[in-house]
Amino acid sequence: MLTPGHMSGRWTSLFCLLSVLCALFTPAVSVKEHDFKKCDQSGFCKRNRAFADQAVASSSWHSPYNVLPESKSFKDGQLQATILKTINDNGDTVRLPVTISFLQSGLARVTVDEEKRQKKEIELRHDSKARKERYNEAEQWVIVGGLALDKGAKVTYEDKSQITVQYGPTSNFEAVIKLAPFGIEFKRDGKTQIKFNDRGLLNMEHWRPKIEPPPEPEKKEGEAEQTEEEKKEAEKKEEERKANEPKGEDESTWWDESFGSNTDTKPRGPESVALDISFVGFENVFGIPSHAGPLSLKETRGGEGKYTEPYRMYNADVFEYILDSPMTLYGSIPFMQAHRKDSSVGVFWLNAAETWVDITKAAGSRNPLSLGTSSKTTTHTHWISESGLLDVFVFLGPRPEDITRKYGELTGFTAMPQEFALGYHQCRWNYVSDEDVKDVDRKMDKFKIPYDVIWLDIEYTDEKKYFTWDSHSFPDPIGMGKQLDAHGRKLVTIIDPHIKNVDNYEVNSELKSKEFAVKNKEGNIFEGWCWPGSSHWIDAFSPAAREWWASLFKYDRFKGTMENTWIWNDMNEPSVFNGPETTMPKDNIHYGGWEHRDVHNLNGMTFHNATHHAVESRKPGEHQRPFVLTRAFFAGSQRVGAMWTGDNQAEWGHLQASIPMVLSQGIAGFPFSGADVGGFFGNPEKELQARWYQAGAFYPFFRGHAHIDARRREPYLAGEPYTSIITAALRLRYSLLPSWYTAFRQAAVDGSPIIRPMFYTNPTEEAGLAIDDQFFVGNTGLLVKPITEKDKNSVDIWIPDSEVYYDYFTYNTIPTVKGHKVTLDAPLHKIPLLMQGGHIFARRDRPRRSSALMKWDDYTLVVTIGRDGKSAEGDLYVDDGSSFDFQAGQYIHRKFVLDGAAGAISSVDAEGRDPKTVKEGEWMAKMHDVTVDKIIVVGAPASWSKSKEVTVESEGKTWTASVSYTPAAKGRAAFAVVKKVGARIGADWKLVLP
Ligand SMILES: *[C@@H]1O[C@H](CO)[C@@H](O)[C@H](O)[C@H]1NC(C)=O
Repeated sequence: MLTPGHMSGRWTSLFCLLSVLCALFTPAVSVKEHDFKKCDQSGFCKRNRAFADQAVASSSWHSPYNVLPESKSFKDGQLQATILKTINDNGDTVRLPVTISFLQSGLARVTVDEEKRQKKEIELRHDSKARKERYNEAEQWVIVGGLALDKGAKVTYEDKSQITVQYGPTSNFEAVIKLAPFGIEFKRDGKTQIKFNDRGLLNMEHWRPKIEPPPEPEKKEGEAEQTEEEKKEAEKKEEERKANEPKGEDESTWWDESFGSNTDTKPRGPESVALDISFVGFENVFGIPSHAGPLSLKETRGGEGKYTEPYRMYNADVFEYILDSPMTLYGSIPFMQAHRKDSSVGVFWLNAAETWVDITKAAGSRNPLSLGTSSKTTTHTHWISESGLLDVFVFLGPRPEDITRKYGELTGFTAMPQEFALGYHQCRWNYVSDEDVKDVDRKMDKFKIPYDVIWLDIEYTDEKKYFTWDSHSFPDPIGMGKQLDAHGRKLVTIIDPHIKNVDNYEVNSELKSKEFAVKNKEGNIFEGWCWPGSSHWIDAFSPAAREWWASLFKYDRFKGTMENTWIWNDMNEPSVFNGPETTMPKDNIHYGGWEHRDVHNLNGMTFHNATHHAVESRKPGEHQRPFVLTRAFFAGSQRVGAMWTGDNQAEWGHLQASIPMVLSQGIAGFPFSGADVGGFFGNPEKELQARWYQAGAFYPFFRGHAHIDARRREPYLAGEPYTSIITAALRLRYSLLPSWYTAFRQAAVDGSPIIRPMFYTNPTEEAGLAIDDQFFVGNTGLLVKPITEKDKNSVDIWIPDSEVYYDYFTYNTIPTVKGHKVTLDAPLHKIPLLMQGGHIFARRDRPRRSSALMKWDDYTLVVTIGRDGKSAEGDLYVDDGSSFDFQAGQYIHRKFVLDGAAGAISSVDAEGRDPKTVKEGEWMAKMHDVTVDKIIVVGAPASWSKSKEVTVESEGKTWTASVSYTPAAKGRAAFAVVKKVGARIGADWKLVLP
């Protein structure tokens, strides 16, 4: 939900009654683009782009950063030195300490700061409460591991101009550090992958004193303008003032900067950090979500089909965002992965301030000595942040999964969600009363539509006071919660970070008296406008504020909530309706004396995290995994919940855009993501709604949502055939929940994306590297390409390999050719979904009302015979779906293998655990009754037709199960169905083929 946009949305509908005006007011180019800065409206971005242009244009450009040779030292995997930055023609320098850390994980980290001594000389503007240091705490919020130094890293070469350090788990990585100018080349197996400052765009705007320009001479009526002498004097002073700076720098936004009606004061003056990072020989780069554009990032410096603006990361409440744009959205992850046929590498730019990234691609490499890459395209990137340290992690791969795993080790893996969170979420702004909620709940049952969670937007509160209920519309929230609980369902209520600024509201009085709110530049509590009108914002950077926040969620404090109530954090960019770019003034002050400018992109995560910990501790011993959805996010947010892509529109283009956006989240380590199904603004036509549910069934986070002005659109209202089509999509999601849950487990353990683009699954297929409209689900081999266009009855799916592919629904063998597209019929009722041969995945086929009700259902295994005609493999992870007992080994993780040669399908513990080592708790014990009921073997060889029975061996017993074989016919593969297998899901078993 968004901002003043909501207001203008309403006005739009009013005007639309007068149809002539309607054309004028209908948001065709809907986002108020002019509400958000372009690079040249953001002083530091403009300066750094100008700096880049100057450097690139001049053949004699020398980057003014040189390592002081005698300053360098190398010890225990860490190289330390001082970089001297030459700041003027007089040769004056500032000192920038640099640390290059080589980590056991194989990552390298480069950190550049500014010397403390220097900072002390700088007087901050006397009235500022801001801290006098470059922001250096991003690490504290973001990094959770992987920092152990690689003591085995060693200097292998050193002379006056460079140092070479060999590092990495197999010592095949190298960093060649050039001293003058400072730059680094990162190599793997002797080949250059990444270069820092190769184009000389490194720029750390050093701190400097503010020298006031000479006062305008007072003019008096009738007096001559200015005497010659006075003029000369003024000019001389101006010259002196400028002598300390490189020529031609635009100083106009050094000390303050206006945008719209807001002026940002900058007590520390200019302090941006920027660096060019080149990916040598790489044509595709991915990541840096969230942007509504293609997965493979576009060039940003103009030209046909390219962007003219850099990708921007400055979390913002972007009302009705535009598509195919590098403009910022609600959350940011400054992590980029570059990939080519034989290599994946990456960088993580740890900086929480406003950040811009320019991307250009060039044929060949600037340096012909970079062996083996000169003929290929190189992607040049230019990273620009407003403040803070320069702090970059370098990943040398070589495979995509190495990058995602290492990134996860550093910033944390996806928290294992409760199983219900993977079910369907029914939301709208707003369900207007507890009766309304109960009615929707009953109707979903009546129409046999499965769902797990119903959501309440802001209107449930008493006048937007969070932690309260509107007592007229929601007189009995507990009664409502109990009705939902009867079918294992949940309620999510929204809680935002803005606290209504009124007197008779305890939360507000406490926030103020305890000083837990963000402050303005004068050091008083910041006041701004949001949903409740005048509001204050909790400062979740403060530990005491977080503790207080947690107290608000206790059941006896947030009355009306119960064990099945969960939380939605919206507006946490933060959205401030009357603030610059709809957010907080950058000169606001947070806990610790840091300016908002320094921590802006972290803000949403600290709040989301505070809420996560708050609901986790609602009641001692409750022991449930929290569920909190967030809109704003940063690197690390994956540790505490799910995100959605914000306020999209009920248009085909938004459905289409959602797929690369969700894929991009997975590449950047935050895979628990989805887009509002149906589109938030507007009214989807029925066909769009149906297609969106079919796509949404393959978002890791699956929620239908609608704006307050949109017509009601619960699935049962769609009418036939749409309601049935939507229901079928939901049922498909529910039957595949065991496989989705398994994919989440993998993400939680090794950072694998949950839905996976082609470059990730088939990294050596060049033609697939930029494909972003189809994907695989976890390890299942399920390949889906949702229909995202109107009136489309077929789809072309690109086939990445030579495996066999079957249609999921018909078992037809698809006539595929590796590297080519195959056309698949996809009338409205059909989701284009293929099964790649060689997999075994689990389902629960009995339709139920919610995931909780499926907890003890038996499993169906689907085996898709691979190209070799005999083998397949897969796994299943299952735990109690709600508690933390899995951390103590209370889970079942099976590996299924079809071994055609041995004539058997078997199930063994996927982690090779000895079952005796795990003492079974209540859930494990109850799982004894849960079995594999059915095994469907698609592409079963003819040998399966020979017998009507198979032998099952498990736990020392042997019995038979019936098998029915259907021979191939009319394009459909042969398949066999084994019924009533009866082996325990948690036990080892073996099914011996006929
Ligand atoms: C999350 O909250 C916990 C508990 O208050 C705190 O220890 C941790 O630093 C917080 N992390 C982030 C990223 O906000």
